[in-house]
Amino acid sequence: MKIENRTFIISGGASGLGRATTLDIVAKGGNVAILDLNESLANEVISSTSPSKVKFFSTDVTETEQVASSVKSAAEWAVSSKAPLGGIIAAAGVANPALTYGRQGPIDLDGFKFVNDINVVGTVDLIRNGLEYLTKVEPEGPDGERGVIIMVASAAAYEGQSGQLAYSASKGAIVSMTLPMARDLSRYGVRVMTLAPSMFDSPMTEKMSAKVKESLMRSMEFPKRPGKPHEFSQVAVACIESTILNGEVIRLDGGSRMPARL
Ligand SMILES: NC(=O)c1ccc[n+]([C@@H]2O[C@H](COP(=O)([O-])OP(=O)(O)OC[C@H]3O[C@@H](n4cnc5c(N)ncnc54)[C@H](O)[C@@H]3O)[C@@H](O)[C@H]2O)c1
Repeated sequence: MKIENRTFIISGGASGLGRATTLDIVAKGGNVAILDLNESLANEVISSTSPSKVKFFSTDVTETEQVASSVKSAAEWAVSSKAPLGGIIAAAGVANPALTYGRQGPIDLDGFKFVNDINVVGTVDLIRNGLEYLTKVEPEGPDGERGVIIMVASAAAYEGQSGQLAYSASKGAIVSMTLPMARDLSRYGVRVMTLAPSMFDSPMTEKMSAKVKESLMRSMEFPKRPGKPHEFSQVAVACIESTILNGEVIRLDGGSRMPARL
């Protein structure tokens, strides 16, 4: 699918990996509707691009009315700017570590639900609302393609570390949803891909101590460094542009397998 003159909805598009994807899509002539909590970061993105190419819709992905209303506004903007909806990228997420059982006793259930509400339910809610519009755009090209869904999992879906119970549950769910979602949406000409990064430079990993970062870097084969946000968005762009990619998860991890604990 061509990115030029298409609109992409990106949750978490104000920061980190979502932000890099926003910038790369705009560089390729696409428009981006950022659905995020963080207005000031979104405004930075808009001022470094253009208000005609990027619009911010204040959204908490755990509030379904907000998701529905922001997606509707984004879809209306796509129509009025003559850049039809081309995809939905669910990049909003949180990590919040907690042990299954630790000094404070069992894992706090509200904390477990908080991570899964944002990472899983928020992802599904964004996509199901977006599909109301994406399944109705004019199909493009010889394959009759309408658009692409990109979800964001993590290496923690496969080898979650100690303390990643909630996060691994949420990212494992994203991995597991990829194929059934692709199968459900094939009749509409909509593809589904998931990216599973290990450690990338972003505000999420800025909070990690040097010790934690070094331990994760040691587990990498090559290159032995955190991924750069642009290396995530390069693959996101490939997922949009290459029509043969569907129903699969791509690890972005420098060949690493995370150790049990740091
Ligand atoms: N950075 C990494 O090393 C890494 C590794 C594996 C997976 N991931 C995943 O990549 C995705 C992006 O992470 P990032 O590193 O860019 O993090 P980030 O913290 O830089 O960006 C996350 C964005 O999500 C937004 N967000 C959080 N909660 C939200 C909510 N309830 N509603 C709307 N927006 C909300 C934040 O405001 C922020 O803009 C996440 O799903 C994360 O789990 C990141």
